[in-house]
Amino acid sequence: ILMKIITIIGARPQIIKAAALSRAISTSFSNEITELIVHTGQHYDQNMSEVFFDELRIPKPTINLNIGSGSHGKQTALMIEEIEKILVKEQPKALVVYGDTNSTLAGTIAASKIHIPIIHIEAGLRSFNKRMPEEINRIMCDHASTLLFSPTKSGYQNLINEGFKEQNKSPFTSDRPGIYHCGDVMYDNSLYFSELSAKTSTLIEDLDLTKNKFILATVHRNDNTDVKENLTAIFESFINIAKNHNETIVLPLHPRTEKMLISVLANDLYKEVLSNPNIKIIEPVSFLDMIALEMHSKMIITDSGGVQKEAFFFKKPCIILREETEWVELVECRSAKIVGTNKSFFIEAYLEFKNNSSLKFPKLFGDGKAAEFICKQLLKSI
Ligand code: UD1
Ligand code: UDP
Repeated sequence: ILMKIITIIGARPQIIKAAALSRAISTSFSNEITELIVHTGQHYDQNMSEVFFDELRIPKPTINLNIGSGSHGKQTALMIEEIEKILVKEQPKALVVYGDTNSTLAGTIAASKIHIPIIHIEAGLRSFNKRMPEEINRIMCDHASTLLFSPTKSGYQNLINEGFKEQNKSPFTSDRPGIYHCGDVMYDNSLYFSELSAKTSTLIEDLDLTKNKFILATVHRNDNTDVKENLTAIFESFINIAKNHNETIVLPLHPRTEKMLISVLANDLYKEVLSNPNIKIIEPVSFLDMIALEMHSKMIITDSGGVQKEAFFFKKPCIILREETEWVELVECRSAKIVGTNKSFFIEAYLEFKNNSSLKFPKLFGDGKAAEFICKQLLKSI
């Protein structure tokens, strides 16, 4: 008899993460596990959602709730209401949620109240900054979950520090949850999709970029986009290296940031960004194109969680536009530097990375088989 699970996705990185588990199920566990994918519709633009299903061969979501954007409370509440209906109707054996978005939180609240076991993939990560909406989402989700899969040792340790017990044994419950350190499904994905990207992506040529001569940047974190001084400092830093160091910067722009550049940035600065020939602002790209940009860049500047790690997977130095990171290993290895929105820290990090070719990228994110491990544990323990 097949184990039926429901997977909740909603934001771009969750759609990509889900590809790893769906792939593991269809290649190795299709006789044992059946997955129903529910998309909350948190992200809905073609290039923030649809594009990934086709190229990553993720089964199309059977249900799209089309919740869309909104304030945290409203968006999360609408999702909870709809997810609850589906869970009641479908009665899955477990609910799988990823990461730390409002879609993760909504799935967690809906399932926990009707006693459907929650499987949290990417558990245990902490920024220790509760002003981040994501930090609240993660903590709530971890503490309602039955199986918690942490991609890193530090994430696993965070769980233990919060009272989770290593010695708990199956059968697990939300009061006696099981915790695992299992590697990162995104590492599985970057191994799997980098070959496909090399074969199919033409973006480097299309944008007329020279391999290993450009910098890739992404910005979308609310602290950076919604606070005028922060957004200003970040774009002044971009202009500085584009102008004074003749760097080409490729910036696939998140729709949130696109809106904020227009409404938050001073008009003169916005014009200067747009007219600088070394700053190439492009629409969000597909995952295979993103991998091509990451693999062929010489440095990555980002506030994204996923992109920080992919910089490491593809052995690129990374400047982190945040005050802290959940992926502390990257900073400990010294291949990534936290600069926040401080312009002097930014330029120091840039100069150091530019002149340093001896960075180290040890294996920290598993063996590329995290998704298989998760499927096996699911079958054993739920
Ligand atoms: C969300 C997650 C964040 C994650 C990010 C990944 C939360 C609280 N935040 O942030 O953790 O890193 O996704 O990308 O869940 N918009 C569009 N089209 C879209 C999607 C969004 O135009 O398809 C615009 C809307 O103006 C929207 C804004 O972007 O209000 C923010 O979208 P939202 O999903 O609320 O948060 P993100 O900033 O994307
Ligand atoms: N990504 C993508 N196209 C883009 C920007 C990012 O495919 O234009 C991918 C990126 O490679 C990574 C994931 O989206 O796998 C990261 O998502 P995002 O930065 O939106 O969110 P975060 O990881 O910060 O939650």
